[in-house]
Amino acid sequence: MKTLLLILGAFLTLPASDGKVFERCEFAARAKSLGLDGFRGYSLPNWVCTAFHESRFNTRATNFNRIDNSTDYGILQINSRWWCFDGKTPRSKNACGINCSELMTDDITASVICAKRVVSDPAGMGAWVAWRNYCQGRDLSEWIKGCRLDAIGF
Ligand SMILES: *[C@@H]1O[C@H](CO)[C@@H](O)[C@H](O)[C@H]1NC(C)=O
Ligand SMILES: *[C@@H]1O[C@H](CO)[C@@H](O)[C@H](O)[C@H]1NC(C)=O
Repeated sequence: MKTLLLILGAFLTLPASDGKVFERCEFAARAKSLGLDGFRGYSLPNWVCTAFHESRFNTRATNFNRIDNSTDYGILQINSRWWCFDGKTPRSKNACGINCSELMTDDITASVICAKRVVSDPAGMGAWVAWRNYCQGRDLSEWIKGCRLDAIGF
């Protein structure tokens, strides 16, 4: 009981700014409801595999790229050089027309809308290094194994 209370206490004191980390199937269901399954020919497991390897499903993940001083944001690690505006990236194109902070909210809608824009370029999912290294050309069925994808409530 004491242990349980300590565990509960640890959860209750987590600051809201830690953001949301999705479960695998939770991300799969949400991504599907937002229309990613089959988008531009990429089945749902491609997106689940990519999000895991890019961010571990953490909506607040950020990674700075020393090569061009840009930053990757959110669950799908979308880059500020081309896709979003963060006020500090040289020559940012902001092709998704958004503030990069919108890619780190608990609601992944903005990330998915921008990802659809990214994958619509000729490189497709090749835009994601993690997809090329860990997902491309592999059997990805494990990524949605056991998931209820018809889930309602979104
Ligand atoms: C990145 O930022 C550093 C420090 O401000 C600067 O010296 C460097 O030239 C920048 N590189 C690019 C590619 O903008
Ligand atoms: C992006 O949005 C955040 C949160 O609303 C805000 O603090 C920040 O100044 C904005 N950044 C830019 C570059 O507009």
